[in-house]
Amino acid sequence: MNKKAFITGISGQDGSYLAEYLLSRDYKVYGIVRRHSIAEHQDSRLENAYKNPNLECEYGDLLDTSSLERSMKSIKPDEIYNLAAQSHVRISYDMPQFTIQTNAVGVLNMLEAYRQNCPSAKFYQASSSEMFGDSVDKDEFQRETTAMTPVSPYGCSKVFAYNIIRNYRKAYNLFASNGILFNHESPRRGANFVSTKVIKAAVRIKLGLQDKLELGNMDAYRDWGHSKDYVRAMNMVLNHEKPDDFVISTMKTHSVRDMCEYVFAKLELNYEDYVVQNPKYLRAEELPYLKGDSTKARTTLGWEPEYTFETLMDDMIDHWMKHHE
Ligand code: NAP
Ligand code: GDD
Repeated sequence: MNKKAFITGISGQDGSYLAEYLLSRDYKVYGIVRRHSIAEHQDSRLENAYKNPNLECEYGDLLDTSSLERSMKSIKPDEIYNLAAQSHVRISYDMPQFTIQTNAVGVLNMLEAYRQNCPSAKFYQASSSEMFGDSVDKDEFQRETTAMTPVSPYGCSKVFAYNIIRNYRKAYNLFASNGILFNHESPRRGANFVSTKVIKAAVRIKLGLQDKLELGNMDAYRDWGHSKDYVRAMNMVLNHEKPDDFVISTMKTHSVRDMCEYVFAKLELNYEDYVVQNPKYLRAEELPYLKGDSTKARTTLGWEPEYTFETLMDDMIDHWMKHHE
C-alpha cells in the first residue's frame, strides 16, 4: 500500500516541492491550506502537484485544533511534515504574537493531534538555523551541538518548537525529529526574502523595468542552498532508523553583498551602480553570520546537495528572466 504523508504549509516554497517529491515516490499526499480572500492565489505553487490525483488538500490552520484533529483522525498518516510557519524573520518583529502562536503553540497543537490520534506516525519539524542566533563554534560553523541563542521572535519561536519535539520524543516515545535547515531558496521563494528580491530586481533593471534596489544589511552572511535538495533531506530524516536531529546545509557561506555581486555580474551589471541601503529593511537585532556543518546528515543519512550557491542563483535568474520575457 502507498505511504500516506501529511504536510502543513503545503502551499509554501518547501511544502510544494516536498509534495512533488513524495508524489514522485508514490506517496499519497495530504495537506492543509488556509483560507485566502483571493482563492486563486492559494494553489499557485501547487500547480504541478495538483496534476497528480494522489494529492488532496483541505482547509486547516495550526491555530485551529479541531481541523488538525480531524485530519489526523481521518487520514492516519504514516509521515507528518510540519512546515507551516510565519517564516519571515523581520516580519516576526511586526507580528510577534502571531509568529509565536503559529510557530510555537501551533507546533504543540500539531504534536497533540498527532500523539492522540496517530502516535505510530513519524513527525518532522521544520527547525531553523535562525535558532543559533549569534552562537558560532570556534571553527566558524554551527552544528547540532552549538548553543542556541536566538536573536528574533521567529528564532525564539523555533527554539520552543525544537525543544518540545525533543521533549515529546522522549516523554511519549514518539518518532519525532528536527531538521535544522539553513537558508534555502528557489524560483518559488517569496518575494520579500533577500534572494528573490535581489534577483528579481537585477533582472528588471537589466530589462529597463526598474532603476534601483533598496536593501538592508548587506554584510550579513548566510549558508544558502536549494529547496529541492532540502526537501529530499526531510524525507531522509523521517526514513532514518531512529528519530534524531540533523543540520542540513551546504557548508559554505556568502554575504548579501556577494550575492548582489554575483547576480548583477551574471547580467553584465555592476551592483554598486544600483543598490542602495534603506534602514527600513534593517532588523531590530541582526543575525550576522551562519555556516552550517551538515557532516552528521551526510555521513548518517547519505544526504548531499546537488546545487551550489552559483547554480542556485543561476536557476533563479533563469526563472525570473523567463517570467519577464
Ligand atoms: P513559506 O514559503 O513561508 O511557507 C510557509 C507555509 O506555512 C505557507 O504555506 C503558509 O500558508 C503556511 N502557514 C503560515 N501560517 C500558518 C498557520 N497558522 N496555519 C497553517 N499554515 C500556515 O516557508 P518555507 O520557506 O516553505 O519554509 C517552510 C518551513 O521551514 C517553515 O516552517 C520555515 O520556518 C522553515 N524553515 C525555512 C527555511 C528556509 O530558508 N526556507 C530554513 C529553515 C526553516 P499561507 O500561504 O496561507 O501563508
Ligand atoms: N528579506 C530581506 N530583505 N533581507 C535582507 C534585505 C532585504 O531587503 N537586505 C538585507 N537582508 C539580509 C537580512 O538582514 C538577512 O541577514 C539576510 O539578508 C537573509 O534574509 P532573508 O532572506 O529574509 O532570510 P533570513 O535569513 O532572515 O531567514 C530565512 O532563513 C532562516 C534560516 O536561517 C527564512 O527562510 C527563515 O524562515 C529561515 O528559518
